[in-house]
Amino acid sequence: MKVVVLGAAGGIGQPLALLLKNELPAGTELALFDIAPVVPGVAKDLSHIPTPVKVDGYGAEQLDDALTGADIVLIPAGVPRKPGMDRSDLFNVNAGVVKNLTDAVARNCPKALLAIITNPVNTTVAIAAEVLKKHGVYDPKRLFGVTTLDVIRAETFVADLKGVDPCSLSITVIGGHSGTTILPLLSQSGFSFSAEEVASLTDRIQNAGTEVVQAKAGAGSATLSMALAAARFCRALIKGLQGEGAIECAYVESGSPHARFFAQPVRFGKSGVEEVLPYGSLSAYEQAALDGMLDTLKGDIDKGVEFATS
Ligand code: LMR
Repeated sequence: MKVVVLGAAGGIGQPLALLLKNELPAGTELALFDIAPVVPGVAKDLSHIPTPVKVDGYGAEQLDDALTGADIVLIPAGVPRKPGMDRSDLFNVNAGVVKNLTDAVARNCPKALLAIITNPVNTTVAIAAEVLKKHGVYDPKRLFGVTTLDVIRAETFVADLKGVDPCSLSITVIGGHSGTTILPLLSQSGFSFSAEEVASLTDRIQNAGTEVVQAKAGAGSATLSMALAAARFCRALIKGLQGEGAIECAYVESGSPHARFFAQPVRFGKSGVEEVLPYGSLSAYEQAALDGMLDTLKGDIDKGVEFATS
């Protein structure tokens, strides 16, 4: 098994690489690519950790080598938000980053599972899909936007409110990964909430990324929790590849009636998405929130398609 992280020396990439070095199955090759000159140092540092995972660093000129033979590619590369910015404000820089990296994926490892973390995820996944299509290698079962951070936030905030262990919870979050497109299905959490609690929890989960951006005061956005979320997502992909099956919410192209790309629970298998699972029935509050998000979500997707195809 070969897992590649593109943007491995960045704020998300480094803790993600650490988590993967610590938990990937024995014998896995972990390939760390970054244009930052520190990447060989990051790889050397991690290589001293005693786990049966081989780590290699790849610099700016070695993208093709990093990707050759990859089974899974995770992309956290790009710039983070600063206070006052929306995720969509990152488009100008990050759209090009994802386009170039996906182009390299298409040329070097077209069968790899490709998980995009780079924001704005609602848009960058659409860009990646169009780039893969141009190369004639697009398989919707193999391309994902990582929305796991919304899930772990929902689990954490509900657990805090209810005084239970967050690890005992499993909360479905559907839609996309930005503002009102993030929709936690609290009505299915197994807990009862007042209308005020639903509104304030939903709002907090939708704006949790901004909470971190503000708290970091100009030094970036969520890195550690995002790394943990991406590692959890990677674990699910690996379980799928190994035939063990695993379920996580993911932003995928699945024939959803709502939008071309839509996040909902997915069962992973040997070729990526094995089955897109129904997300169950919604409360009236959730249905209204779903109806209300769709124009934004579709607009985000169209922007990505337009960028990649023009
Ligand atoms: C998050 O949800 O924390 C990330 O998408 C980063 C951000 O800009 O909010």
